[in-house]
Parts: sequence; structure tokens; C-alpha cells
Amino acid sequence: MASSDRGQFSSRFGFIMAAAGSAVGLGNVWGFPTQTASNGGAAFLLIYLLMMALLAFPMLVAELTIGRYGQSNPIGSLRKIWTNNRLLAVLFGTTAMLTASMILSFYAILAGWLIGFGVSPIMKLIGLQSLSEWLITFGTGRNVLLTVIFMLMTVFVVRRGVADGIEKWSSRLMPVLFALFLVLIIYIFTQHGAMDGLKMYLVPNWEHVNGGLVVNAMGQAFFSLSLGVGAMMVYGSYLSKDVNIPKTAGQVAIIDTGVAFFAGLLILPAMFVAKANGVQIFSETGELISSGNLVFTVLPSLFDSMGLVGEIVGVAFFALMVIAALTSSIAMLEVPVSCLQEEMKIKREKSAIILGLVILVFSVLIAANFDTLFDWVATASTMYMQPLLGVVWAIVIGWVWSRNALLKEIQQGYPEIEKTWFWRIWPIYVKVVCPIAIIMVFAYPFL
Ligand code: PHE
Repeated sequence: MASSDRGQFSSRFGFIMAAAGSAVGLGNVWGFPTQTASNGGAAFLLIYLLMMALLAFPMLVAELTIGRYGQSNPIGSLRKIWTNNRLLAVLFGTTAMLTASMILSFYAILAGWLIGFGVSPIMKLIGLQSLSEWLITFGTGRNVLLTVIFMLMTVFVVRRGVADGIEKWSSRLMPVLFALFLVLIIYIFTQHGAMDGLKMYLVPNWEHVNGGLVVNAMGQAFFSLSLGVGAMMVYGSYLSKDVNIPKTAGQVAIIDTGVAFFAGLLILPAMFVAKANGVQIFSETGELISSGNLVFTVLPSLFDSMGLVGEIVGVAFFALMVIAALTSSIAMLEVPVSCLQEEMKIKREKSAIILGLVILVFSVLIAANFDTLFDWVATASTMYMQPLLGVVWAIVIGWVWSRNALLKEIQQGYPEIEKTWFWRIWPIYVKVVCPIAIIMVFAYPFL
């Protein structure tokens, strides 16, 4: 059982919503469609799905299991398993914490844009035309202001702890997001041009597949399931012992992949609908114009095409997206906060505020030097650090921890696991195949 002063998720549904809330975020709605659109559509989708099933899902089980066994922050949990080498536990726990903070520092900027797009139509409605324009126009002032607002929101939730803050918000709002997605997808398919997008999304063109695409797909899968950085480890540590980890992880992975798939089903057709409506999406040579901005060009044009209803739907959509981003950003901030709280014995409230401010300083730095820093920070943390930390967790599960102790931990919520095929395959798979496969994906371009 968790020690009584640690938080715990109050129900399995609450946990699934919180973990899915952490997983579902800009990675699904911005990252995945952008990558799919710029990497040839269906070919990327297929490789992404493979990466999810073959690497990300097994690693999600691994991270949740480490956390639940440790019942502590990532540094503390790793220390409990790595009993003969505490230094490595602290080193990698700290690396995870820094990576989570790094991700949050660029994520907050993007999430800020969502706020801008959500508030802009309201400003227009009340006659503040130029403010409405400013909110959706790229600029350092706007980026910084909106980032600050988003970070304050993140700190506000994390301050309140597990059941009261994180769980309550996720359980209420995630289902609404799913429903709105469905409605928009149905609408987009009634529009001219949608079928071209559907074709790009579902009919593979294998010419696009190369080493770089596979690295991107792997990074995207790790990013989307919030792996490597200790976020799932911390969430696992708030999980009660009677929960069936593989099953719960499966549900979280399915929700996450489902939302990414639906986001693609909305954005790719919407791209072609926007094109049919005269918005420039591709350059003369057929390249995507400014892929990072794609979603922010295509969606407003979709809402515009819906007339007055579109304004309302647009506000609702971006509001929900801000919430999806928030349920992810709180998971990121929870990593360093739990470390500070438990390792340094600093109160949660204070930890959340201090760390929120420190990360905000980095965010503002990135926002102010957007062209030079943004891509670098995003690529280093998500494409490289997340999968590489995954390799470390695979080694911890497979080589450091005893197989018996591992079995015992999972068995508590799944007594019959010994008899399943999952148990026959998974431990050896995580021990050998996962680390080798992850490293090979990186090495491939050099072979
Ligand atoms: N999975 C989140 C998303 O898709 C991002 C995330 C990464 C959240 C790492 C927590 C930790 O947006």
C-alpha cells in the first residue's frame, strides 16, 4: 500500500482517464497529424502503429510497473530496484526529470497558441478586432504572454495533488473531447475535397519510408505515450496494488492511439478541404508549407467554413485542446515536483510553484529565440532522450530487477498472469528485443 501521505488515484477509471489524459495531448492532435502529413500519410501511419504495438506499449507496462513497485518518485522508485547502484538510479532519475522539464518548456509555448486560438473568436465577437488578430498571429509578445498563462494553469492543478487536481480534471473533460472529435470528423466528410485527404491517410506510398521516417515514428510513439521521462512511472506509483497493469496499459495505449488516429482522420481531410477552399497548404513543388503551423492553419479554416456555428465549435474545440494539453503538462510537471517533494522534503505546493517558475524561465527563453531553440529542444527531448531513456528502463526491468520480484509485482493485480502468453513473452521481450530494436532504429541510417 502507498504510504498514507502519498496521493493515490481513487478509482481505476480515474487512473485510466488521468494516464490517458497524460498520453493524449498535443502529441496526438498536433504532432501526429503534422508528422503524418509531412511524411507521406499512410506509410507513416502504418509504421507509427507498428512502433506503438511493438515498442511503446511494452515499455508503458514497464514504466508503470517500476513506478507501482517503487511507490515513489522516479528517483526513489529506481533506487528501490537498483539497490546495488544507487548512483545510477539517481543519475537516470534526474535525467528523466530534466527531460520532462525540457519537454514542458516547449510544450507550454504550443499550448499557449491553443489558448490564443480559443480566445480569439470571443474577442472578435465582443468587437476587439485587433486583439483577436494579435492572438492568432505569430510574435514573441504573444508567445510569451500565452506561455505564461498556460504555465500558471499547470502549476495551479499540480499544486492540488493527485485525486483532487489531476484525476478530477481528466475524468470530466477527456470524454467530451472524444465526442467533439467525432462530430467534427462527420462534418468534414460532408465537405468537398475530404476524400483526397482520406486517400493520403489510408493508402500507403512506400517511397516515403526511410531511416529518418522510422526514427520520427518511434519518437512520436514514445512522446505520445509519455514514455521515458518518468511521467508514467510517477502515475504508476499512485496506482493501487490490485490494478491489472498490462490490461490498464493496453486500455491507455488504445485510447491514445485512437485519438491520434481520429486526429489524423480529421486533419488530413481538413487539409484538402482547406485547399479546395483556396487556402494554400502545399507549395508549387507539392511540399507542405510550414508543417509546424499546419494544424493552426487548417483548423481555423475548417471552423470558418462552418459559419457562425463554426465560431462556437472553434472555441469549444480549442478549449478542449487546452485541457488535453493541460492533462499532459501536469504529468510532465508532476515528475520534478514529486522528486523535489519526496527527495528534498519540500511541500508539494512550494515545489510546484518553484519548478513551474524555473521551467517558465526556460520557456520564455525558447519563445524569445524561437527560430533557433524551439526545434532543437523539441527534437533533442522527444526524438532522442525519450527513446534512449526507454532503453535504460528496459535494462532496469530486464537486467537489474529479478524476474521473480517483477512477476510478483505484476501478479498482485493479475494473479493468473503466469499462465498467460503475455508473461511468457513480455519479460524477455523487454529485456532483449526492446533495447536492441530502439538502438537499431537510431543506428539504421549509419549502417
Ligand atoms: N503524451 C503527451 C502528448 O501526446 C506528451 C507528454 C510527454 C506528456 C511526456 C507527458 C510526458 O501530448
